[in-house]
Amino acid sequence: MPEGGIITIETRKTYSPKGDDGQEYVSLCVTDSGCGITSDVLEKVFEPFFTTKPQGVGTGLGLPMIRHFVDQARGHIEVHSMPQQGTCIKLYLPTAAES
Ligand SMILES: Nc1ncnc2c1ncn2[C@@H]1O[C@H](COP(=O)(O)OP(=O)(O)OP(=O)(O)O)[C@@H](O)[C@H]1O
Ligand SMILES: [Mg+2]
Repeated sequence: MPEGGIITIETRKTYSPKGDDGQEYVSLCVTDSGCGITSDVLEKVFEPFFTTKPQGVGTGLGLPMIRHFVDQARGHIEVHSMPQQGTCIKLYLPTAAES
């Protein structure tokens, strides 16, 4: 958010966004009121080293690392965004039984 804004972090117990698979999930939703993501950029945000930041500023590894972590946890990730309005990145992580 180069011009400032609001970030909201929400967590909740929920079910799979892909349809109920009998598994309980925790969702972690990070919403910002920043510049948003255009559709051409949106399709590349998980490509390793893809960045729209100036050289030497962004690695382009933020979202690929998050996606890898979510995949390893057998979770799901969604990106919802509107240019000029903001972005919501939502992680779904399966809960584990306490041992
Ligand atoms: N919350 C967001 N709002 C707007 N654009 C975003 C957002 N998150 C990611 N993007 C877009 O996706 C691109 C890739 O994001 P990613 O986190 O993988 O790398 P980065 O942010 O460019 O670099 P780094 O994570 O190292 O700072 C960003 O360069 C930006 O264009
Ligand atoms: Mg990043």
